[in-house]
Amino acid sequence: MAQGDIALDDMALNNDHPQGATPLDPDELAGLKFAHVTKRGELDHLEQANIQAGLQWLQRTKRTDILTEDFVRTLHKRLFGDVWRWAGTFRKTEKSIGIDPVKIAVELHHLLGDTQYWIEHETFPPLEIAARFHHKLVYIHPFPNGNGRHARIMADVILTKIYGSPAIDWAGGYDLQSMNERRDIYIQALRAADERDYKLMFSFVGYEQS
Ligand SMILES: Nc1ncnc2c1ncn2[C@@H]1O[C@H](COP(=O)(O)OP(=O)(O)OP(=O)(O)O)[C@@H](O)[C@H]1O
Ligand SMILES: [Mg+2]
Repeated sequence: MAQGDIALDDMALNNDHPQGATPLDPDELAGLKFAHVTKRGELDHLEQANIQAGLQWLQRTKRTDILTEDFVRTLHKRLFGDVWRWAGTFRKTEKSIGIDPVKIAVELHHLLGDTQYWIEHETFPPLEIAARFHHKLVYIHPFPNGNGRHARIMADVILTKIYGSPAIDWAGGYDLQSMNERRDIYIQALRAADERDYKLMFSFVGYEQS
């Protein structure tokens, strides 16, 4: 075995995940469509290619039913379905982040309804709605993996497709998927939002409150 190669049994694909990422359980790992993948870097690469294809679908689609369960799940499937068999289906296992899996459908339904209401009643400015939506969606953590990336793209879909506004500069010049100071601030902002304090989250997405 070459240096750096680790057997899948050793859960190599779960190693080195950055702070605030959720490990996969054996059943979820079994959903990998590429049997030969044993290294984290290879998996990242495959997922990245899938996400690019998903983003192209997103650009092309004429769908306007963005705040529906079907759109949320379809987007996840488009972003991760070439790599994971369970893409677009809700998580069935408990994670360190996220609500009880049996409550996912109901809580997602609430979030989508609340967001629709905020938009219709102009309860908050668009960037505040996107930031609140993003946090609540990752807090629910609907899927076994890919929740952060999917929920960042969903927030951008609200801004770009519903409001015609620019997307959020999530990475801010960093690679948000690896451990770095931008990721630290992002995770801190989400943890504060877990406690209903959104100040850090708003400043992270570039929303200045008046
Ligand atoms: N305390 C927290 N509260 C709410 N959400 C959190 C918290 N900590 C982490 N998260 C979110 O969970 C995501 C990690 O979940 P998951 O591994 O399913 O997503 P991912 O897209 O694979 O991860 P990544 O963000 O590393 O690309 C983080 O990106 C972040 O959005
Ligand atoms: Mg992950």
